[in-house]
Amino acid sequence: MRYLVTGCAGFVGSHLVERLLAQGGEVIGVDAFLENYPRERKLSQISGVLEQPSFRLVEGLLQEIDLEEILEGIDQVFHLAAVPGVRPSWGKAFQDYADNNLLATQRLLEACRESGIQRLIYASSSSVYGDTDRLPMHEDALTLPFSPYGVTKLAAEHMVRLYYRNFGLETVSVRYFTVYGSRQRPDMAIQRFLRVAAEGGSVTVFGDGEQSRDFTHVTDIADATLRAAARGTPGRVYNVGGGSRVTVNELLALIEQVTGCRLSIERTPAKPGDVRATLADCSSAQQDLGFTPRVSLKEGLEEQWAWLNSLADKAGQ
Ligand code: NAD
Ligand code: UGA
Repeated sequence: MRYLVTGCAGFVGSHLVERLLAQGGEVIGVDAFLENYPRERKLSQISGVLEQPSFRLVEGLLQEIDLEEILEGIDQVFHLAAVPGVRPSWGKAFQDYADNNLLATQRLLEACRESGIQRLIYASSSSVYGDTDRLPMHEDALTLPFSPYGVTKLAAEHMVRLYYRNFGLETVSVRYFTVYGSRQRPDMAIQRFLRVAAEGGSVTVFGDGEQSRDFTHVTDIADATLRAAARGTPGRVYNVGGGSRVTVNELLALIEQVTGCRLSIERTPAKPGDVRATLADCSSAQQDLGFTPRVSLKEGLEEQWAWLNSLADKAGQ
């Protein structure tokens, strides 16, 4: 099978590329190396696959590159490229969210419509549900995003479904719930907290720390995404969660336990766009895809902590 992975050098994309190559696939990866975090970090995330003959990197924006040429001979597309991050999506930055999350998706879908691809899997987000106390979140629930980022993810999800309904392009969306694990983006909570454990300083908690998340390990995310490609019902959306919900305060206590480091904590006001709670109802993914999350939060934190320490070891050599 031949795959296109957009956002291939990112946190989730780089894990997915490795899985596709390991199962014998050929992969074209597209990434524009946007500056949400350093290019060197993104390059290091794909350093293990760059030299593999079954991988080809195309550097550029989905809005600009020759998609017709890239899609030639591709069987399935995994569309992960986006500007992520909930809290920075206000103000002038919104232009980047609109361009890279919505307009880029529309251009990709148009190109896919004209090509012979079998199916497209879209990386959507729990942020489409918004700030609700109706938990767990089910795919049939009302979607009322609470951040501009969430609006772009939902709009793109609608676009993806439209191309199935109107043109028969097989599309499946997977709504990821706060992903963590090795290579987690530097702006995300767990990566920030573990770095403080490793390097010192203080963690900053936004609000009272009683907001909760269904943290999902990246290997479970990659697994569910591959299952959606193999078995997902076209036109459908599937939640992908880690199976439990913890508050930020509980997370900090668990991080202290895993790292053996006591964290100094500063508190600032809650951030606009941050929802109070997320929790995935994964029964649709379980039923249709045979997906069950396997990695507990403690195991996942241990894995991410070991990865972070291995980077420090390499830097020290
Ligand atoms: P990431 O920033 O690590 O990876 C995204 C990659 O896409 C980046 O390397 C970036 O350079 C690239 N990119 C962005 N716009 C592009 C464009 N227009 N053309 C080409 N390349 C472009 O982010 P991530 O955390 O790996 O997120 C991957 C996907 O999963 C995103 O769609 C995000 O919205 C979604 N998602 C992530 C999480 C999470 O917790 N990480 C949760 C829900 C959904
Ligand atoms: C994450 C991703 O960043 C989004 O790209 C994604 O779309 C979203 O998950 C999702 O599930 O759809 P978020 O849940 O905000 O967003 O993930 P984190 O950045 O890990 O934050 C988790 C919680 O920790 C939030 O409530 C946040 O307010 C809090 N936090 C984060 C802090 O208190 N301090 C920090 O320094 C960072």
